[in-house]
Formats: sequence, structure tokens, C-alpha cells
Amino acid sequence: MDTWESLKRDCAGCRGCSLAETRHNLVFGVGNAQAEVMLIGEGPGEQEDLQGIPFVGPAGKLLDDMLEMIDLDRQKVYIANIVKCRPPRNRDPLNVEQEACRPWLDRQIALVNPKIIVCLGRIAAMALIREDFRITREHGQWFDRDGRRLMATYHPSALLRDVDKRPEAFMDLRALRKEIKAVCSRTY
Ligand code: URA
Repeated sequence: MDTWESLKRDCAGCRGCSLAETRHNLVFGVGNAQAEVMLIGEGPGEQEDLQGIPFVGPAGKLLDDMLEMIDLDRQKVYIANIVKCRPPRNRDPLNVEQEACRPWLDRQIALVNPKIIVCLGRIAAMALIREDFRITREHGQWFDRDGRRLMATYHPSALLRDVDKRPEAFMDLRALRKEIKAVCSRTY
């Protein structure tokens, strides 16, 4: 049986792709190990790479505000990324990097066993919902995967770049709150 201790130990020294060569820190994940809601981003940025914690840069501040809007916080959810090491200059993670990193994420998902997964942005949605996922058309919609409810919303970095998308993201958060009330027992 898998445990957090063995997963963290196995993952800590990972050299499964070339991102290991440029990282300062591997960014494993943060939050409640028994959360019913898991948020999955794309990959660490500069601040995350320096601190070893997901979503601590400008996008992370906005994510915290978004969570607060629906009475969530970092203690109530679990936050991870598709890749655990920073892609140089914040480029999209390559497929080969995503594939190398995927077993760590799959083990995290299995251990947390969330009822709901929220994909933050296109990269996470393409990896976890459907390869040809279109974030502008399909954000806020619910999908069933492996007995869990999955939804994607705009990545907080996209909302920093384009404030016009924020009302749509707010609607997605309201849909998340409604789904939490319907399927979760512990989060509230
Ligand atoms: N963007 C992400 O997708 N993940 C982080 O941890 C930080 C920024």
C-alpha cells in the first residue's frame, strides 16, 4: 500500500526528465492530505521554484483570493501541479516532461482520493480531462473521470493577464461551490 512517506521519499530526488537539471526545488504539493477538493495547476513558476511550495507567486495570491470567495483556503484543499519542477522561462511543460512526472501526480491523487478535481488552466485540463480540451469553450463544465468530478477553470495567471476573463472564472467558482455542497461531506 502506498503512503505519503514513501511517495515523498521516492519523488524527492526525481531525475526523470531534464527539468531536474535546472530546478532549485522540486515543488511537491501542499494542503490537506484528506481534502475532498484537489486543485491541479501546470507547473512551478519562479517563486515556487525558489520556495518549493505551489502557487506562492502573484498567481498564487490571486488563487488564495479566489478560494476565499467560496469559503475555501489552503487547509481545506490539496494543491499540486502537472509537473513538479519549473520549466525554463515558464514555458509550457513538454509532453515528455508531463509523462515523466505523471506517476507522482497519480499517486498523490490516489492518496488524497478527492471527490472533486479542479484543473487550473488548459495544460492541466488537457492532461486530466481530454487531450483536445478547449478552455475558452469548456471551462466550468463537469466531467466524470475515475469516479471523480472534474472541472477546469482559467489559470490564475491568465486572469492576471486578462481581467475580462474574471467574471467567467467567478461563475466557475460558484459552480464549484454548488458541486461541493452536492458531493462533499467534510469540506464545509
Ligand atoms: N502556476 C502553476 O501552474 N503552478 C504553480 O505552482 C504556480 C504557478
